[in-house]
Amino acid sequence: KLEIDTTKAVHPVSPMLYGLMTEEINHSYEGGLYAQVLGNHTFRGANWELVRNGNAKAEVEIDKTTGPSPALPTSEKLSVKQASPANEAGLSNTGNWGIPAYAHSLYHGELYAKTDLDSTLPLRVQLIDDDTGAVLASTTVNVSPGGWQRYEYKLTTSNLVPSSTNHVEFTVARSGTLWLQMVTLFPPTYNNRPNGNRIDLMEKMAAMHPHFLRLPGGNYLEGDTLNDWYDWRKTIGPLVDRPGHPSPWRYWSTDGFGLLEFMDWCEDLHIEPVLAVYAGYALQHQVVQPGKDLEPYVQTALDEVEYVAGDVSTKWGAERAKDGHPKPFPLTYIEIGNEDFFDKVPGSYSARFEQFALALRKKYPQYKLIATNKVTVSRSAEPDVLDDHYYKSPAAMFDIVHQYDDAPRNGMKIFVGEWATRSGSPTPDFGDALGDAAWMTGLERNSDVIVMASYAPLLVNVHGMQWSTDLIGYDALQSYGSPSYYAQCLFAEHLGDQVVNSSIDGAADKFFYSATVSTESKILHLKLVNASNLQQDLDLNLLGARAGVAKLYSLHAGSYQATNSITKPEAIMPVESTVKITRQYTVPAYTIQIVDIPLK
Ligand code: AHR
Repeated sequence: KLEIDTTKAVHPVSPMLYGLMTEEINHSYEGGLYAQVLGNHTFRGANWELVRNGNAKAEVEIDKTTGPSPALPTSEKLSVKQASPANEAGLSNTGNWGIPAYAHSLYHGELYAKTDLDSTLPLRVQLIDDDTGAVLASTTVNVSPGGWQRYEYKLTTSNLVPSSTNHVEFTVARSGTLWLQMVTLFPPTYNNRPNGNRIDLMEKMAAMHPHFLRLPGGNYLEGDTLNDWYDWRKTIGPLVDRPGHPSPWRYWSTDGFGLLEFMDWCEDLHIEPVLAVYAGYALQHQVVQPGKDLEPYVQTALDEVEYVAGDVSTKWGAERAKDGHPKPFPLTYIEIGNEDFFDKVPGSYSARFEQFALALRKKYPQYKLIATNKVTVSRSAEPDVLDDHYYKSPAAMFDIVHQYDDAPRNGMKIFVGEWATRSGSPTPDFGDALGDAAWMTGLERNSDVIVMASYAPLLVNVHGMQWSTDLIGYDALQSYGSPSYYAQCLFAEHLGDQVVNSSIDGAADKFFYSATVSTESKILHLKLVNASNLQQDLDLNLLGARAGVAKLYSLHAGSYQATNSITKPEAIMPVESTVKITRQYTVPAYTIQIVDIPLK
């Protein structure tokens, strides 16, 4: 028997409950959200091949003696001994597992080049179909004699069948030496932002109705060693001034997608950043000693907050304005570190947290501070929120759905900054979606204590995965939502502002529910999750709700293993219908339902 009294509010739903969390993992940005389509555009690895057409003669090597900026002091040196208009030589870029060709589209590119010739060197840029050799778009960049210069170029496609089996060639028709660095190419981006984001992925995130973005990680914040931390200062300003750094997820990050790009992303989705500042702990278990050694990092965190939220009269606010965004970004939460429960030095995190917290509170008393582990600190340094992380199998997730039901209501607030039910790969299967939906019923029921929650990781390039079970999958051309993705879209879209009184008696195994009410639109959002292989018959008693027809959103599959994939992106999709609400109500096996019922 499930009884819901919509007239009795238990507590408000946290207005920021659902949000996003990503980092540079699984080619989330490079080869993912960051729309730049050339692979390894600062020549730090593979993705570039030598082109020698016909009898052309040429060699290529990394030149460590010259580059366009102190941040990028090396370059790709192309030495052409023989070439002609019929037999060109140059470089080819294979993208990140392909380069997307879209019909009737304008691509914007940028490159730095230098030549040893005394006259202009025409550099031909072509988007070419791998299979047919057809040129899909082409232009010429005239490289002037002299030193390093920046060039912009454009490619325009016409009618074509969209594909990712393409590459871009940069070729010359005469002998001489050409140095290249920082070569980028962007198809149209979300909101037409320069240096912007992939449209399909932004649209998928917008459909999740998020309220915040936790950034920049995850392990990506910390880095493997103390040298590899996310130093945001090296990720801002012109791309040519960003040196890049190794991501702990084992590939190079150019930092073309830097701190301001994270902020633009928030702005485009109309959400707030939850800004994680580096707190002096590296994944290889090294720590910066609290006290004098930690001071520069504390100062860097204060500066970072100023870059994000300070006005233009401040040093770093002015720097942000110079970078193109005078308006400060909204900010409520600052997180200090990531998963510092892995730090085994006794008392280290408490001392590090305290040093950051005191400095942050002194300068910015308005922000709420998030700790990543329990800390013992002075009263004025106490965190406002604790970040809890959960990665579980479906069975283990079902077991912890009621984890926060008995949490003290006057204790510290909780941010579930990373959570996921994990069994599918590269993206969650339907069993995971059931685990996730069950877990979300607990998040909603306890959303007086849990102020925010974000699934992790969010993104995976299906060809470049480091971490299995990621919410949204994609290749160079297309993307798809996992069953868990659709469960999250539904849960976030149909969420009220009040949790209402409810009770269940005699529920079968693996049955979960949540009941929230939208006060203004007068709707009860009843979420029902049946993760068992048997239908669940309910005796439904809805007080204050209107009898009759309700809207039903249903996600169903025949097994836990059923899933979506890059080749079958829509195998499992929400189905919208109407349902007559009667006292006898049945939830089919393996089903997630959201029933929107009008109130009296
Ligand atoms: O989400 C993947 C990783 O899991 C994060 O980088 C880290 O914080 C956690 O251990």
